[in-house]
Amino acid sequence: MLVEIRGAADTYSALVGSGLLGQLGESAHKYLPRKTCAIISDSNVAPLFADRVKRSLTSAGFQPTLITIPAGEKSKTFKQAGAICDQMIVAGLDRQSFVIGLGGGVIGDISGFVAAIYHRGIPHVQIPTTLLAMVDSSIGGKTGVNAAAGKNLIGAVHHPSLVIDDVDVLRTLPRREFNQGFAEIIKHAIIADAAMFGTLQSWKASDAPIRLSLRIGFALQSLIRRNIEIKSKIVAKDERDRTGERAILNFGHTVGHGIERAGDYQEFLHSEAVSLGIVAACAISIKKVGLPCDQRDAIVDLLRRFDLPTQLPRDFPREKIFEALPYDKKFESGNIRFVVTPRIGSAHLSSDVTLDDIREAVASL
Ligand SMILES: NC(=O)c1ccc[n+]([C@@H]2O[C@H](COP(=O)([O-])OP(=O)(O)OC[C@H]3O[C@@H](n4cnc5c(N)ncnc54)[C@H](O)[C@@H]3O)[C@@H](O)[C@H]2O)c1
Ligand SMILES: [Zn+2]
Repeated sequence: MLVEIRGAADTYSALVGSGLLGQLGESAHKYLPRKTCAIISDSNVAPLFADRVKRSLTSAGFQPTLITIPAGEKSKTFKQAGAICDQMIVAGLDRQSFVIGLGGGVIGDISGFVAAIYHRGIPHVQIPTTLLAMVDSSIGGKTGVNAAAGKNLIGAVHHPSLVIDDVDVLRTLPRREFNQGFAEIIKHAIIADAAMFGTLQSWKASDAPIRLSLRIGFALQSLIRRNIEIKSKIVAKDERDRTGERAILNFGHTVGHGIERAGDYQEFLHSEAVSLGIVAACAISIKKVGLPCDQRDAIVDLLRRFDLPTQLPRDFPREKIFEALPYDKKFESGNIRFVVTPRIGSAHLSSDVTLDDIREAVASL
């Protein structure tokens, strides 16, 4: 499946399918008539897939250099990006080279940032290997690294030249990582696609090991494609996050970020915290914009089906969630811009949500 992504200035393609890693050389030839490239990957992903990627590139005439960094969010730093650039210089990569990011969102973000700054910008190919990276972080052009003061504070907008989503790589993804991708998929359904919400509801609980079934494998490809379309359409309206249209992608993220931080980034994975943030955003949407209670119940039910959390543990330090909120970029100039949904399939920003509304929603989590 081919998805054409049209932005204000850039147009690129996302290929979604099975067996795509083996055909990478051919695809890269078509989209990037260059010779040398860096494959940036992490210590979990490189042993699984880097050989396949390298072989395919080499047999198509490319000269790839593999650069592996330790797996995990701690690697997403300016220092690590600098070290990668140094290795690329030593390997003789230049303005005519390109960068491939082979991994989850961490690798997508840091490799994209390296591509944005190396020789003032060279092409980037995203090969996401987590579901979250396929449906979310590989699309939209946001690249960057974390600073001591917060996540994603240093970065650049640098769209990829090509995105390759090979669903076969998802077979080795730990179950918890796989499920967290569904929090972002359910978010997309709530903000923009009631029909996709219905499709997800129709997947029976017995389909849970979906990544292993061929039939569902195809359904998963269609789902990934649909999510790429949803995110890229929203991004195209507001690439630089200026008009507020892109901000609806942050549905569930205001409280989600607070929970992530309050749990010291240990207790919940990012999208698990977002799942809880979605439940809080639903409570606020009921109060402020009349989201019907049965729609909130359907959302909670769907999140649970993917083993996503919808209630905070009793002893969770709830107060800490609010300490984190002022750092959130949605609190710009003291006005809370909170994303609400009046009904599944639609969302908008509201400046009518107060800190007390958020407190009430968190108290009921
Ligand atoms: N740029 C954006 O628009 C955007 C959007 C959302 C999230 N993000 C960023 O994405 C990051 C989170 O991404 P993530 O959840 O993919 O995390 P991740 O890249 O850390 O991957 C999660 C874990 O799974 C492992 N892994 C990856 N693919 C695997 C596979 N196929 N088989 C086995 N193990 C595999 C990784 O090594 C890692 O340990 C965060 O840094 C977040 O800020 C960026
Ligand atoms: Zn998210």
